[in-house]
Amino acid sequence: MTENRPHFATRLGVIATTVGSAVGLGNIWRFPYEAGTHGGGAFLMIYILCIAVIGIPVICAEFVMGRASRRNIFGAFRTLAPKGGRYWQLMGVAGIVGSIMILAFYSVVAGWTIEYLMQSLAGTLEEVASTERQAAFDSFTGGWRCVLWTLVILGLNCAIVLGGVRKGIERVSNLLMPLLFVLLITLALNSLLLPGAGEGLKFLFRPDFSTVDSSVVLGALGQAFFSLSLGLGTMMIYASYFSPSTPLLKSAATTAGLDTLVALIAGVIIFPAVFTFGAEPSAGPKLVFEVLPDIFHRMPGGVVWSTVFFLLLLLASLTSTISMSEISVAYFSEQWGISRRKAVAVNTAIALVLGTLCALSFGPLSDFTICGKTVFGLFDYVASNIIMPLGGMLISIFVGWVLRRSVFDMELSPAPRALLCCLAFCLRFIAPGAIAVIFIAYI
Ligand code: PFF
Repeated sequence: MTENRPHFATRLGVIATTVGSAVGLGNIWRFPYEAGTHGGGAFLMIYILCIAVIGIPVICAEFVMGRASRRNIFGAFRTLAPKGGRYWQLMGVAGIVGSIMILAFYSVVAGWTIEYLMQSLAGTLEEVASTERQAAFDSFTGGWRCVLWTLVILGLNCAIVLGGVRKGIERVSNLLMPLLFVLLITLALNSLLLPGAGEGLKFLFRPDFSTVDSSVVLGALGQAFFSLSLGLGTMMIYASYFSPSTPLLKSAATTAGLDTLVALIAGVIIFPAVFTFGAEPSAGPKLVFEVLPDIFHRMPGGVVWSTVFFLLLLLASLTSTISMSEISVAYFSEQWGISRRKAVAVNTAIALVLGTLCALSFGPLSDFTICGKTVFGLFDYVASNIIMPLGGMLISIFVGWVLRRSVFDMELSPAPRALLCCLAFCLRFIAPGAIAVIFIAYI
């Protein structure tokens, strides 16, 4: 099974698929609203620090484990840990649970992009006054169409994942990522011309550390993990499809760099508009969906821009949903020995149930809360702020302390020695230490 494993065909394929997993709603929807609720500039600084000293080392760790074992997260721990790594395998279970939770709530937001795409095509998105549009957004998220679009996303996701690694995942990503970049840069330039641009940029880039508390730091850490798709085994499973000649460190740095760049560009698109159109930076998950139509409304040819934008955002979310599905699909098919088709069916069936619950969180289930959070909010919080960072901590401890150093050196091999030592130091001490301190401070 391992020897016949498919490989990504090209180096562009490797970058496009890992960036395809990393770049998605996390950058364009989640980053702006997290930065907005956590005070802007200071959040951004802490987020970038988390990416540099925790994120990049953990991507490398996942890459090393994936390519060295050529297995899913569960099998990777089993293969690489001494004596079959019985306890380490539990980490695999956390990855699978976390990835399905994310798939559930992520599909709801991806479904919102279908709604906006439809409205954009119908010409109703930019024409309606913004107060009316916000009311329409609330009534849409509270109604049956929100559930329907969630199910459509899960259906599309199922179809692409069934296509397999080369045909499905690589092809979609190769085309999409470059297009998305060009469009985002155009939108950012447009936002810089808005009257509120100065204030928006100040909010995003001028840090005010007096408002920082442990929840801001935990939020930034969770966002870094969410945005880089880390801690659940996504990068690990993708690396299991890398060819032996793929340079891991370079690929990790490129993925993290491009992902952070997209988040920054999204911030430059959104915050000038937030201040121009009088939205509340701390509006939460609705923020981007409230502000974007106002941006398009002011642009010449707004209907065309918004249609292309929501189409690309939809595709970008699909390249992320397929990566989170791949974790459990690879697990079900490799560990349970069932066909890929059946594995996709199991994954989709669970996600359909949980996704429906998340979609209903904005309507009939909005009063059903656990620890003060709706099902949607709870899944997001638990998966992004707890399971992912804890998973990242254990992966870095495993690669830093348990995995044979020769495997680590060999997998990362064209990288200079000094860099390897630096990486190993981050994995042994800095990443686990920082994550532990952030958790303890938060608790
Ligand atoms: N990184 C993706 C984004 O920013 O949209 C979200 C994501 C993908 C999270 C895959 C987790 C995952 F396993």
